[in-house]
Amino acid sequence: MRTLTGITPSGTLHIGNYFGAMRPAIEAQVKGDCFYFIADYHSMTSLFDPVERRKNTYGIALDWLACGLDPKKSVFWKQSDVPEVCELTWLIGSLTPMGLLERAHGYKDKTAKGLSPNFGLFSYPILMAADILLYDTHVVPVGQDQKQHLEMTRDIAIKFNQTYGDTFIVPEPRIREDVAVVPGLDGQKMSKSYGNTIDIFGDEKALKKRIMGIVMDSRLPADPKPDADKNIAIQLLKLLAPKEVAVDFENRLREGGLGYGDLKKALFEYYWTTFADARTKRTELAAQPDYVEAVLKEGAVKARDVASDVIKRARKACGIV
Ligand code: ADP
Ligand code: TRP
Repeated sequence: MRTLTGITPSGTLHIGNYFGAMRPAIEAQVKGDCFYFIADYHSMTSLFDPVERRKNTYGIALDWLACGLDPKKSVFWKQSDVPEVCELTWLIGSLTPMGLLERAHGYKDKTAKGLSPNFGLFSYPILMAADILLYDTHVVPVGQDQKQHLEMTRDIAIKFNQTYGDTFIVPEPRIREDVAVVPGLDGQKMSKSYGNTIDIFGDEKALKKRIMGIVMDSRLPADPKPDADKNIAIQLLKLLAPKEVAVDFENRLREGGLGYGDLKKALFEYYWTTFADARTKRTELAAQPDYVEAVLKEGAVKARDVASDVIKRARKACGIV
């Protein structure tokens, strides 16, 4: 039962990435057979600075290792170290209907936000399907926003299997309902592209300022707030603090008497403590770039081993060899 997921190195990682994708992926390691990669090819659809890409890729490797990815238990590599994924993109892309790609929310959202619609952005879901199918993946832990991409992957796999005979495993998404969409500082989905994130790692002062700067309404501390469950700080506290603590804050806010400033202070403290160990580990790892490089190279060898079998199978099925 193979689990696989990828994260695009298009910026620094935030707690939406952590709760939506990383934590479930890290927890899945106990069962073994986990494949995790840094989707640097995907980052090319929206990031055009090579220095930035290299920096983000390395930074994300540090983030994952610091948050608990164990290279002894999981295969961890950089997408571009297994270029077979590009070949598979072509093989499956050639039977992906335009209509399927035109319906992609990810593409529509990104172009609506002002990204220029290049071919890479349009074919993004095919490359993602190739990532998944190339490694005989069974389960893909992702956030809610990737659900449609997973459905597209399934459609593509089924179509390939119907056209050329049984070749690919049809994967299942794993979306945790409780953390399916982590809200950002402005209440929209937390996302690098919306500038509304709380990063997992970063400078304490700056992060505190961000959290204390969450915009709330103008009701007085004493006012009861029947909509306390909709409050962003409460929603985030539910992820970061023990359940009873979050429930207590929610009740106090609902009844009146809890000021927004105190609520945000508590949110910062729980956030800071949640990632304290990871922060220490990240600092240690940052001092060992050779180790991090070696982990990724070793991971690429293992990943490529699987990929070369699957690409052979796919080539044979469609009559390339
Ligand atoms: P971003 O939207 O910040 O660019 P990515 O698209 O790189 O994030 O997402 C990386 C992973 O993190 C994906 O599996 C995605 O579903 C998950 N993820 C991103 N943002 C959130 C969020 N706000 N809540 C839950 N999961 C998220
Ligand atoms: N598109 C995913 C995201 O933005 C990242 C990704 C690329 C991915 N390839 C993948 C996730 C394969 C899961 C499986 O979050």
